[in-house]
Amino acid sequence: MRVIQTVAEMQQFAREHRGQIALVPTMGYLHAGHASLMIEAKKRAPIVVASVFVNPTQFGVNEDLDSYPRDLERDKQIATEAGVDVIFAPTAPDMYPKGYLTYVNVEGITGHLCGASRPGHFRGVTTVVAKLFNIVAPKVALFGKKDFQQLAVIRRMVRDLNMDLEIVGMPIVREADGLAMSSRNTKLSAEDRRKALCLYRSIGAARTAFAAGERSVAKLRETAVSVIAAEPAAEIDYLEFRDPDSLEPLETAEARTLYALAVRLGGVRLIDNCILGEE
Ligand code: PAJ
Repeated sequence: MRVIQTVAEMQQFAREHRGQIALVPTMGYLHAGHASLMIEAKKRAPIVVASVFVNPTQFGVNEDLDSYPRDLERDKQIATEAGVDVIFAPTAPDMYPKGYLTYVNVEGITGHLCGASRPGHFRGVTTVVAKLFNIVAPKVALFGKKDFQQLAVIRRMVRDLNMDLEIVGMPIVREADGLAMSSRNTKLSAEDRRKALCLYRSIGAARTAFAAGERSVAKLRETAVSVIAAEPAAEIDYLEFRDPDSLEPLETAEARTLYALAVRLGGVRLIDNCILGEE
C-alpha cells in the first residue's frame, strides 16, 4: 500500500488512474466501520483510495479538533488489511493554504439535527468532500449511514453540483453489544462506555414500539427519551423522528421513518440512528 501526502502527488496519481478509483473519505483512527466501506469499495473499483484527514473546517471553535484521536501507523495497518491501495493523508496547510476562500454550502437540510447543534459543520464537510472528489476524481465514493445526515447532504451536493460519481451508503457497523462504532468511542471512560449503550437501547425501544404498531411520533419520542433519561449522565442533544429522504419532521411515523439521536456523555458527543420499518 502506498501513502500519498501531498495534493499534487494525489492529483498526478488520479490522472493516471481515471475511472478506476473508489474513494473512502475518513478522518482516521480507523475501525471496523471504516473497514467495511473499504472492503465494499474494493468490490466496486480496481483501486481503493482512503483519505485520512482530520478536517479543521468541520470542527466548531469549542469542539474536539485538537483532541480528535490520530494514529497513522495503526490506520495503515487496518487499511492494508481492508484492501486499500492508497492512503491519501494530506496536511491542513496543503488542503487549506494561506488565503483560502472557497466553501461549498448545502442549504435547507443542513439546518437541523447535527447541523443545528454544530453550526458550520456541514459546510466544512461538503467543502472537504468536494475538494477530495476533485483531487482523487473517484468514480464511486462510499459513506456510512452512521452519519445519516452527512450522507444525505453529500448526495444532495453531488446532485445539485452535477458531480460525476456514484455515492454508496453503507450500513452502520456496531460493537458486539450494539454501540455504533466511532473513533470518538475511545474517548469514553470505562463507565461512560457502559452508559453509552443507552443510545442503542433507545433505538431498540423505538423499534419495538413501532413494530407493535405505534405511529404517533409524540408517543415514540416519549418511549425513546425515557430510555436515555434512565441514564442520568446522558444529556440529549437531539432526538428526532424524521422523513428519511427530506429529513423533515413528522407527526405520524411512516412506513420508513428515520429515528436519529445525539447524546453527550462525559464531554463526548455520540450519534446513532435507525430506519424504523427496515431491517
Ligand atoms: P469519519 O467519522 O472518520 O467517518 C468516515 C466514514 O466512515 C463516514 O462515511 C462515516 O459515516 C463512516 N463510518 C463511521 N463509523 C461507522 C460505522 N460504525 N459504521 C459504518 N460506517 C461508519 O465522517 C467523517 O469521517 C468526515 O466527516 C468526512 C466525511 C471524512 C469528511 O471529513
